Amino acid sequence: MKIAVLPGDGIGTEIIAEAVKVLRVLDLSFELETAPVGGAAYEAAGHPLPESTLALAKAADAVLFGAVGDWKYDKLERRLRPEQAILGLRKELGLFANFRPAICYEQLTHASSLKPELVAGLDILIIRELTGDIYFGQPRGRRTAVDGHFPGSEEAFDTMRYSRPEIERIAHVAFQAARKRNKKVTSVDKANVLETFQFWKDVVTEVHAQYPDVELEHMYVDNAAMQLVKAPKKFDVVVTGNMFGDILSDEAAMLTGSIGMLPSASLNAANQGLYEPSHGSAPDIAGKGIANPLATILSAAMMLKFSLNQPEAAARIEAAVQSVLAQGLRTADIWSEGTRKVSTVEMGDAVVAAIAAGT
Ligand code: NAI
Ligand code: MG
Repeated sequence: MKIAVLPGDGIGTEIIAEAVKVLRVLDLSFELETAPVGGAAYEAAGHPLPESTLALAKAADAVLFGAVGDWKYDKLERRLRPEQAILGLRKELGLFANFRPAICYEQLTHASSLKPELVAGLDILIIRELTGDIYFGQPRGRRTAVDGHFPGSEEAFDTMRYSRPEIERIAHVAFQAARKRNKKVTSVDKANVLETFQFWKDVVTEVHAQYPDVELEHMYVDNAAMQLVKAPKKFDVVVTGNMFGDILSDEAAMLTGSIGMLPSASLNAANQGLYEPSHGSAPDIAGKGIANPLATILSAAMMLKFSLNQPEAAARIEAAVQSVLAQGLRTADIWSEGTRKVSTVEMGDAVVAAIAAGT
């Protein structure tokens, strides 16, 4: 098993160091190889995603990614900005399925922006299609309008599109994920207004015929946005397109308290995946040793489960995270009165100790 480790910028290096520590204590036989990405790679090699880093990622069974970006690169031309590295990796590896679990840990219920009773025990999985939709659809651009409400004026346009195979493969991913959970899929669309999402709804319904053991529900995206804050526990697996998924996954993230707790996985057709925390490089706290490493450590657990076929090892990590929270250890982002504030490194050490103790 070969894992490409790409720490990146800002807190990326700090949190990846803790995740690597946790992987090593599991005593499994993998090869970890580190390469620069993002601003760090731009500094070293003049490009945010150098050929050698991309080659390493392609050859690996999985990629463990930190975060990229820093304000100091804002003036660079777009293709050289650190964020292009993550977009490039998604495209080059064909990572079309983005998994974002939103789990509210018992000890962090109070950290949610919702009432504790609405989020206690919350465990939902948002699956976002990641390589299609209006974010990639052509044509796009600016032009002088020939029709519409203001002919002759300047206008901009994008194209929302999905092909049958794109919808089919993400639908299969969602139904299969639901089979391993509570067997319910909510497909989020805007079929009442958009042809693309009427097609989405039709194709998801067709694919569902192969999964009679899983319940399928369709929901309009505006209603889904409401239901997520009204009764989030009604959801199990939510599957949706790239743009709706972008927005709803951030909304779901906030239900759980801190972005520092949220892992993510992006998979391709070969089950090769890129695993990263849902947050960015947090330049405001970089270098201070206070970043929460748990999102990255939990991303490593997802990696063991999805790409490396090591579900027991993943479960050991997840149990260890529960254990350190139960011990009252908190990084600054999740700290509250009566708990013990720890650094990034102390949190990583505590997870390692909990794994070693078999808790
Ligand atoms: P961010 O997620 O980096 O930070 C947002 C806020 O959350 C900040 O106050 C930060 O201190 C806090 N935060 C984030 N992760 C944390 C952690 N593990 N522990 C404690 N607090 C944490 O988002 P922001 O500020 O919008 O972006 C910063 C940079 O990161 C930008 O250059 C952006 O482009 C990049 N970015 C990169 C991503 C990636 O690599 N996949 C994803 C999102 C943003
Ligand atoms: Mg987003």
